[in-house]
Amino acid sequence: MSMIPDSIEAETTKAAPAIGGAQDVFYSTGNIVPLPVIDRAEGIYMWDEDGNEYIDASSGPVVSNIGHGNHYVANAMAEQAKRMDFAYSRVARHRPNIALTERIARLAGPGFERVALSSGGSEAMEIAIKFLRQYAVVTGAKQRRHIITCLPSYHGGTIATLGMSGDESLDDFFDGFGMTSQKVPAPVTYRLPDGHTLESYTGFVIEALENKIKALGADSVLAFVVEPVGGLATGCVVPPADYFRRVREICSRYDICLVFDEILCGTGRGGKFLSAHHYPDALPDIVVMAKGLGSGYAPLGATLFPADKVDRLAELTGFNYSHTYNANPITCATGMAVLDEYERLSLVENAANMGLYLKQAIQDLAEACPVIGDVRGQGLLLAIEMVADKHSKQKIAAEFLPTEKIRIHGLNNGLILYSRRTAGGKYGDWFLVAPPLTINQAECDELVSRLRVTFNDFLLELNGSDRR
Ligand SMILES: Cc1ncc(COP(=O)(O)O)c(C=O)c1O
Repeated sequence: MSMIPDSIEAETTKAAPAIGGAQDVFYSTGNIVPLPVIDRAEGIYMWDEDGNEYIDASSGPVVSNIGHGNHYVANAMAEQAKRMDFAYSRVARHRPNIALTERIARLAGPGFERVALSSGGSEAMEIAIKFLRQYAVVTGAKQRRHIITCLPSYHGGTIATLGMSGDESLDDFFDGFGMTSQKVPAPVTYRLPDGHTLESYTGFVIEALENKIKALGADSVLAFVVEPVGGLATGCVVPPADYFRRVREICSRYDICLVFDEILCGTGRGGKFLSAHHYPDALPDIVVMAKGLGSGYAPLGATLFPADKVDRLAELTGFNYSHTYNANPITCATGMAVLDEYERLSLVENAANMGLYLKQAIQDLAEACPVIGDVRGQGLLLAIEMVADKHSKQKIAAEFLPTEKIRIHGLNNGLILYSRRTAGGKYGDWFLVAPPLTINQAECDELVSRLRVTFNDFLLELNGSDRR
């Protein structure tokens, strides 16, 4: 179907991918394979320069929530660019900024009355942390400096947010450099340590959080930052609901700010506007969003705060930090148009309904597929964990490059899969299935049928290799 060869080995010996250019040296030459050169996209589909068709099975890195080629959004962007292209948020206000922040606050509901806009997830997370730090400093709590996060986890690509991310493969990078967070075990659900049930392990990770807070000294902790549904770092782990209730209780008891990283899982992907809305009794203090909010049309992040904290800081000093492109008019107009499409197409409801349908279809596929160990996730944010043996949950040998192999077989069968090894494969190998929220039942069926042949090809190669 496409230009991608069957074997990585064959391709690694070739000198250059299909398209050359200055950016190519930034990829590892160890397992380089040609990435398709995408020329055109519409809905859940993409086409490369040779006319090969793909389903965008993960909305890029879980970004393109409203689907590709949306002319309503494109026109809104163009109209805004023609009317008023830029006004710096520190020196001027503008309607698109006011309208978008009010709309996000309204959709988020009580507790999230103030919204700071930024140009993506890492920036939005940094705004959360900088805000909390400034607030602590000016309210006489300067000793609050520790951030606690989970292992594994991912919170961004800037040096600070990378330092907050839970990925042991970064240990050398951070050794003697930069600042890292304090880590506690993530509430994983599939690979539980020996002797643990889901219930006992949830208790264990909760206890680890409380012990960490006590060991650091509660009044030295700034925040606990957690993904309510995991992204690539955990392969869409959905912790038991009880986990968040207990986390909330601990954070309140020790007066520690609870931050939900909803950069990937928020904006309706999980079947509610915020993932936090799944846990009304355990709402966080701050929510960080991005990705689907701009849906790939413009880089947009948002940090949601309670009014009292923001207003108090405003009385004292105001929040002192910004980036040049924060809340720029074209991005804000894009965000408004994206949310218009959410409403017009009932995308949050569709994520809930199609999420259930797609998950069931993948679970049916898993029944007959010996290398699918786990299917997990919420709404249209799903992950498939690959194993060599379902019963023992044994991982596929790293040398087989399972995440790369599945990605390549996906390309050969008309699927663009977000499949990348995280934490050196320590926690397992998975890839995401997170198509645009516009997907319908027939498109889900088509996606799963392409997944079926992708896994058939993957298995053939795995069985033919001595690297199981
Ligand atoms: C959970 C999570 N947090 C933070 C980020 C960083 O967002 P960005 O890449 O927009 O800076 C990501 C991006 O993948 C993410 O998935």
